[in-house]
Amino acid sequence: MGTARDDPIGIFDSGLGGLSVVQAIRQRLPAEQLLYVADSAYAPYGRRPIAFIRARALALAGFLQTQRAKALVVACNTATAAAAEALRKQLELPIIAMEPAVKLAAAATRCNVVGVLATEGTLASARFAGLLARFAGAARVVTRPAPDLVLLVERGEIDGIEAMRRVQAHVSYLLRQGSDTIVLGCTHYPHLRPLIERAAGPEVAIIDTGPAVARELRRRLERKGLVRSSAGGGTIRIWTSATASSTRAIAQRLAGPGHSALLIDALPPLSISQSPPGVPATER
Ligand code: DGL
Repeated sequence: MGTARDDPIGIFDSGLGGLSVVQAIRQRLPAEQLLYVADSAYAPYGRRPIAFIRARALALAGFLQTQRAKALVVACNTATAAAAEALRKQLELPIIAMEPAVKLAAAATRCNVVGVLATEGTLASARFAGLLARFAGAARVVTRPAPDLVLLVERGEIDGIEAMRRVQAHVSYLLRQGSDTIVLGCTHYPHLRPLIERAAGPEVAIIDTGPAVARELRRRLERKGLVRSSAGGGTIRIWTSATASSTRAIAQRLAGPGHSALLIDALPPLSISQSPPGVPATER
């Protein structure tokens, strides 16, 4: 059986943060059935070894393929840095991956200083070094890991005094270094965008890659004649490697509007081909 327009789109992230990408996809592709895997039992990925993240990414993508995904979106900059190449080697379906928008930021900055908020894994990756070499041009790029913001979003704490205090600390650092443009290089951070904007002030441009990924996904599906059209809105089905009941309310909030139905289940056991440290060959 070949791929059909009504087949779903598979999306995954270390946790629930990648639902910021789901929001962007829903805007561009309102009728699609979206499948989303949150690997929350292993989140955050940010400080984990590359081999671990790669093995998880391959297993999650394999699971989405068994659910008939017609395209795969890696809604995680850290997993892209660790596993995009391996995923492209292993899977036949169109793969859209995420990376910090250094090129856009270098074009947008007026004072030639760009701040990048991302995970330690992304910032230390060869892929990020390659992005800087190719696209930073004359801009100085100041980097800032913000693992605490990932944890806030996983807990659904996207507003309030504590979230603002933490956002402020990261943004002030980037502003002190002279940044007039801030790249959200982790898919968890767009959920905190109102706070980031408030901390940065109106003169600072905030750049998120989600909308560009959604545009690219639409282009790739159009090219293959695989865009779904339907009168009703599309659904979203979420699987989590953590417990489904603890995830429901947070997932609903982070997935945003526009889904005609939202289902949440526990992720079934996956077989991990290349066993990463601390994860048995077959999870229980
Ligand atoms: N959302 C992820 C990213 O875009 C990873 C966050 C984490 O798990 O550390 O990089």
